Amino acid sequence: MPDQPEFPATENLRVLFSRQQIHARVQQMGRQIREDLRGESVVLVGVLKGAAIFLADLARAIDVDCTFDFVAVSSYKSGTNSSGAVQLIKDLAEPIEGRHIIVVEDILDTGITLSFLQSHFERHKPRSIRIAALLDKPSRRLQPIQAHYIGFSIPNEFVIGYGMDFAERYRNLPDIRILEPIPPK
Ligand code: IMP
Ligand code: MG
Repeated sequence: MPDQPEFPATENLRVLFSRQQIHARVQQMGRQIREDLRGESVVLVGVLKGAAIFLADLARAIDVDCTFDFVAVSSYKSGTNSSGAVQLIKDLAEPIEGRHIIVVEDILDTGITLSFLQSHFERHKPRSIRIAALLDKPSRRLQPIQAHYIGFSIPNEFVIGYGMDFAERYRNLPDIRILEPIPPK
């Protein structure tokens, strides 16, 4: 069995955070959440599909009473660019009124997705809303939104792996890598 899936030779994949670095940081984020929410119960709301792997690891690092829910949005993104319009394509399955929620997202980029989701969730009157983003690209922000918990701040690079995709591929890579197209010769 090869150690890694095989990739087309048109893209170069450089490791930005190894699986060990990700694991260590997710454990720290979990400890911080556990201290902030000690004795409370919380709904972890994952944003499909990119946050699925992060949510699975973060949930096991927080050790507080919690349930899971998932939403999905389409941001008219395919490839590495966004048009800015967000549409909810899967809503919450359970009521969040009066509950603490943590929105679990892979990347906070322009902030358009999370500011849309924050307004959407506020209408359901949760007791509190926190955002946990594994990655933050502060230089790309178009909406003034901040996450309460951030794994790593990164420069403006397109990354894949650990749940994150390029045109739906690479989500299963255990490391986070920078995707660089190889220019045709
Ligand atoms: P925002 O609305 O611009 O903040 O976009 C957030 C979403 O864009 C993330 O949840 C990702 O799905 C996607 N995204 C932004 N940057 C990247 C990246 O570098 N790699 C993969 N997906 C990304
Ligand atoms: Mg996403």
